[in-house]
Amino acid sequence: MQILVLGGGGREHAIAWKISQSHLCKKLFVAPGNAGTSLCGENVKIDPNDFSAVGVFAKEKNIDMVVVGPEEPLVNGIADHFLHDPNLKSIAVIGPKAEGARLEGSKAFAKAFMHKYRIPTAKYQSFNKDTLNEGLHFLKSLHPPYVLKADGLAAGKGVLIFDKLDEAMSSFKKMINERMFGNASDCVVVEEFLDGKEISVFAATDGCNYILLPEAKDYKRIGEGDTGPNTGGMGCVSPVPFADRLFMEKVRKRIIEPTLDGLSKENIGYKGFIFFGLMNVEGDPYVIEYNVRLGDPEAEAILPRINSDFVQLLIHITDNNVHEYPMEINPRCASAVILASGGYPGKYRKGYEITGLDMVKDSLVFFAGASLHNDKIITSGGRVLAITSLERNFKQALRKSKLNAEKIDFIEKYYRRDIGNDLI
Ligand code: AMP
Ligand code: GLY
Repeated sequence: MQILVLGGGGREHAIAWKISQSHLCKKLFVAPGNAGTSLCGENVKIDPNDFSAVGVFAKEKNIDMVVVGPEEPLVNGIADHFLHDPNLKSIAVIGPKAEGARLEGSKAFAKAFMHKYRIPTAKYQSFNKDTLNEGLHFLKSLHPPYVLKADGLAAGKGVLIFDKLDEAMSSFKKMINERMFGNASDCVVVEEFLDGKEISVFAATDGCNYILLPEAKDYKRIGEGDTGPNTGGMGCVSPVPFADRLFMEKVRKRIIEPTLDGLSKENIGYKGFIFFGLMNVEGDPYVIEYNVRLGDPEAEAILPRINSDFVQLLIHITDNNVHEYPMEINPRCASAVILASGGYPGKYRKGYEITGLDMVKDSLVFFAGASLHNDKIITSGGRVLAITSLERNFKQALRKSKLNAEKIDFIEKYYRRDIGNDLI
């Protein structure tokens, strides 16, 4: 098969790395890719949101399958674009059409969907300019902390949590009146705070059947001890010790199956991955959010734990028999530690040379914000690299990732040294 992966972060490097190991893949392209994906396939300078350029390239190169990494092209309708073009419709797209991608693209849609299909989630209401006063009233009726969510995509920054009511009310007004997140906060979801432990659960679905991938625990805050602002994720571990058989059975019966049932009742065909961002509240799972893709950095920890052929999984998704995929999971523990540019998730500098990559031993290095420039690898983003180690237990895996994190250097390198410490 000829496969095209869209995206250029750590997740896409992990996807490209896994695909390139399959004998079923004859040629792999990544658009736009990064310094890491160029080691697995051929990078192409195409913006994943430029659907007509993606389509022309796919036709020209006889691509059989397009694997969409990030959410934005999905929310913007890349799967629909392929389906509606007679020249492209025979090409399989891994990822939902725009309607299904609303699960991530609109928090208000996702909450209404969960409400309709009785899927456990935080109590909520959504508000806009016309219902601003009702929103302020609703906020007053809740107990702190207060959770405000911009309805639309906001590059992972659209969720604000406050301890004080006056701060929550003032930000709520800013989100709507001053369009703090542009169009994305024309509508704001206000919801109850859920106190518990987070877990990322991944299902691959063909729209009817599903299979679970390994789960992961993501460490979202920038600072050690889970302090400071939220990031895309500073590291993660897989498996998650509290995700035992009983907990996962609740996740299947109360969340995954009702979600797939709801999608099918709404006639939303869905082929791809659903990432359930869950909160474990005293043993019961609640949905914090849906994502319509794999997670980043979760992909860098979970894909190395899949021993079986990943391309075969993608084929099972397109052939409507994903439940028959012979998934083989590596029982070892994976830890992915992110090396970031100092200042991230706020302002940071880039363009610094990354050295020491050749010193890394017994870990995988996935490239995120790292690009090739005059034969040197330089930093080009907030999250720069993910260092993944697979060992018998978390302690060993985390020690290995940190040992290798010390060997790699670039100016203003920052990483959390406490990823996974709560599990040891
Ligand atoms: P989201 O973008 O929806 O994933 O939210 C970002 C982060 O905010 C989540 O990963 C949680 O840590 C936190 N969060 C979101 N909603 C809630 C909630 N209802 N209760 C507690 N924490 C939340
Ligand atoms: N790591 C969380 C995400 O990918 O959304």
